[in-house]
Amino acid sequence: MKSVKNLKNIRGKRVIVRADFNVPIEGGKILDATRIRVAVPTIDMLRKKGAKVILISHIGRDPQESLAPVARALKKYIPVTFIPDLVGAKATAAVRAMKNGDVILLENLRGNAGEKAGGKKFARSLAALGDIYVNEAFPVSHRTDASIFLLPKLLPAYAGLQLEREVKELSRVLKPKRPFLFILGGAKIETKLPILKRYLKEADHVFIGGVLANNFFKAQGHEIGVSKYDEGASVTALLKNKKLIIPHTVVVDRAGKKKTVATAEVKKTDSILDIGFPSIEMLAPIIRSAKLILWNGPMGYYEGGYVEGTEELLALLSHASGDTIIGGGDTAVLVERKKLAKKFTFVSTGGGATLDFLAKGTLAGIQALK
Ligand code: 3PG
Repeated sequence: MKSVKNLKNIRGKRVIVRADFNVPIEGGKILDATRIRVAVPTIDMLRKKGAKVILISHIGRDPQESLAPVARALKKYIPVTFIPDLVGAKATAAVRAMKNGDVILLENLRGNAGEKAGGKKFARSLAALGDIYVNEAFPVSHRTDASIFLLPKLLPAYAGLQLEREVKELSRVLKPKRPFLFILGGAKIETKLPILKRYLKEADHVFIGGVLANNFFKAQGHEIGVSKYDEGASVTALLKNKKLIIPHTVVVDRAGKKKTVATAEVKKTDSILDIGFPSIEMLAPIIRSAKLILWNGPMGYYEGGYVEGTEELLALLSHASGDTIIGGGDTAVLVERKKLAKKFTFVSTGGGATLDFLAKGTLAGIQALK
């Protein structure tokens, strides 16, 4: 990948920066501006070199959703003009009127069906707006959307500073320092099975939590009561792998009360909603000796108040001496909310993209830059 850092003589050049401003918004208020904040250094560097910076992004999955609230948030960091158009006459005129160092943000890419469809015509219309393309949108780089996969093939294409950082930091797990501890929680075992299989080879220890763990308890022959689990995914063959660490205690909802029990003592009417404190304690010495730790996915039903397992793990990891990487998604949101990001070596801004990168070691949008 060519780095945006190496772009020279760009005064007056129109640089299209594909960002991922897909931030959570409620009632016009941005709940977490991390993805906006991380794009600022690339934008700032380009505008200070005299480029005309044209920002493009998607937001949400509703084509009608507007990036106007993002423009307001972005103004806290850099001067930017919002253009409520994408590839139409208004956008073209706005680009034509730009002065060196100006920054504009165009409207939601998904407002044009060509974006999700990977439409060549749409990609060509975007390309006509600029001279250079920069991908600063790691969280959506697993998609083959037009702005991610086609546009970089139509213009000289570069990687943004944050995209480079994501690739560099997440690539640590591809050639890990040892001992390497991989912690996987959350749900959707079907999506996570390829990752699990890969890191049962690459890592020294793999610890399982969250809804994923219920599949393992069941495979061990334990009762899981009325707990969620994924019927379609069998993990029995993985049980014999010595690297696998399955919690031996869980927190259940038993007749409306939280109770910590051994996995062998779960009853037919129980619902497993967190892993037990003793299971996290069991991990403590491994965390202490690990040179590299990657964590993705909460340990329990966090949003339902079953926070103890996840928070205890967070506390232990925030004091780890080895390198610690937070693999994006809900785990990253949690770390931001607790204001603990500085305690970790790296917090990925991706969700599905981070998981895909961990499984495959690359993404469609990264390949398109090469
Ligand atoms: C994300 O939030 O994971 C990215 O912005 C991608 O969004 P998408 O899942 O709607 O493609």
